[in-house]
Amino acid sequence: MPHLPKKYGLRVKNMIYWYNYKRREASPPGHFRKGVNQMPINSCKCIDQWKELQPILERRRHEAGALIPVLQEAQKLYGHLSIDLMAYIAAQMNLAPAKVLGVATFYTQFRLQPVGKHLILLCQGTACHVNGSAAIEAALLDELGVDENEITADGLFTLTNVACLGCCSLSPVMMIGETAHGSLTPDTARQIIRGIRTKEAKA
Ligand code: FES
Repeated sequence: MPHLPKKYGLRVKNMIYWYNYKRREASPPGHFRKGVNQMPINSCKCIDQWKELQPILERRRHEAGALIPVLQEAQKLYGHLSIDLMAYIAAQMNLAPAKVLGVATFYTQFRLQPVGKHLILLCQGTACHVNGSAAIEAALLDELGVDENEITADGLFTLTNVACLGCCSLSPVMMIGETAHGSLTPDTARQIIRGIRTKEAKA
């Protein structure tokens, strides 16, 4: 399970409070019972805020096992899964907020905080570790000028350390978007970042 940012942990209570508040607001007088899902579909007043997500919710909200694809789509649309967004999905899919939160925090593909345009997933698995991932991380953080999980000043990059990416023969390896960059050295890692910056400057 990925590390949960401290401030995020403190906000889990807020998520559950928010969820209960919305259900209370949407339930007919006297019908709200804590701990029971009874929020009517589409009754939430914040539906406009997440309207791009509605088509997939309409299609899949009653489907078993649809939570992961819905979260993937939500992340694609909004960049990350905020507390409010997860609470909204929980209410709309008639799921407990803790279940949505549990899935979102279990899989490293889900991001709970905003990230830069290019998310760098640097592998710290065993093969990458023994082949020098620590030196790659130091070079990348120096090149980017930020700490892990922070967004660079130009909004372009965030670096996150992850466990095995599943391509150990390429170790040490990082993924940027859909592309795996393998057999890294501190120098090649820096060059890759500079290359992306140059392309972005021309775009
Ligand atoms: S340990 Fe890095 S890809 Fe497997």
